[in-house]
Amino acid sequence: MSHPLVIANWKMNIPSGGISSWIQSEMVSTNDEVDFNKKSSYFKFMGIAPPISHLSELENLLNFGFLGSQDISRFNDGAKTGDISADMVIDKGCTFSILGHSERREFYNETNKDVSEKLRICLEKNILPVICIGESLEDYNAGKTLEVLDMQIKEIFTSLSTKKTVVIAYEPVWAIGSGKTPTPDDVNNIHQHIKDIVQSIAEIEAISFIYGGSVNCENAKSFFQQTNIDGALIGGASLNGKEFLDIYNDFLETF
Ligand code: 13P
Repeated sequence: MSHPLVIANWKMNIPSGGISSWIQSEMVSTNDEVDFNKKSSYFKFMGIAPPISHLSELENLLNFGFLGSQDISRFNDGAKTGDISADMVIDKGCTFSILGHSERREFYNETNKDVSEKLRICLEKNILPVICIGESLEDYNAGKTLEVLDMQIKEIFTSLSTKKTVVIAYEPVWAIGSGKTPTPDDVNNIHQHIKDIVQSIAEIEAISFIYGGSVNCENAKSFFQQTNIDGALIGGASLNGKEFLDIYNDFLETF
């Protein structure tokens, strides 16, 4: 089964006012079993990827949604200073991990090969991988979007065969934090293209396609209405709990 998902990527930020004020009253259960079951089902498509340092606090305050990490090491253990392994994030309650975010590519020189290795670790360890791909502004302006995506996809997915679910997040680098976005129609077509290419080089039983880049309360619905958009990966707007919940509610309305 594919996995629609609306993910908050807090990056290296903590919501202003702290985690307790980020959490909206709707996100917390009373001790009532019916309420708990209802909310568990309501929030089953919500993912939150805080900085690792704040996972436990979030887990203690929030009963719903999925917790995720923003990255994992491509190694399993040992002398890798600064890295955090898949087993360690699982131990902290994470069930998904963002991989290959453009900020990791830009600031830490992460390559498609690294992302490919991390993807395979996630699948082996039963972590839902959320793999980011997307073109730079320069490539976009040069009309090379599909060419760049094809190369990223080939280097990450070639020969992969899995019955597990994979999430692909299309995040044009030029749309991240800029207030600019492609049109929902463009994203829809690009997701179809990504799907076609992935299916031609890999055997993946279930893939979801989510969009990231300047998603907010105003534009979220127009993306969610598209048939090939199964959710969103949200940076800036996810730091405000109310705004994130509003976007999540928009997602459920169009689902
Ligand atoms: P913004 O929503 O701030 O543009 O960030 C998108 C992003 O990078 C999510 O991973």
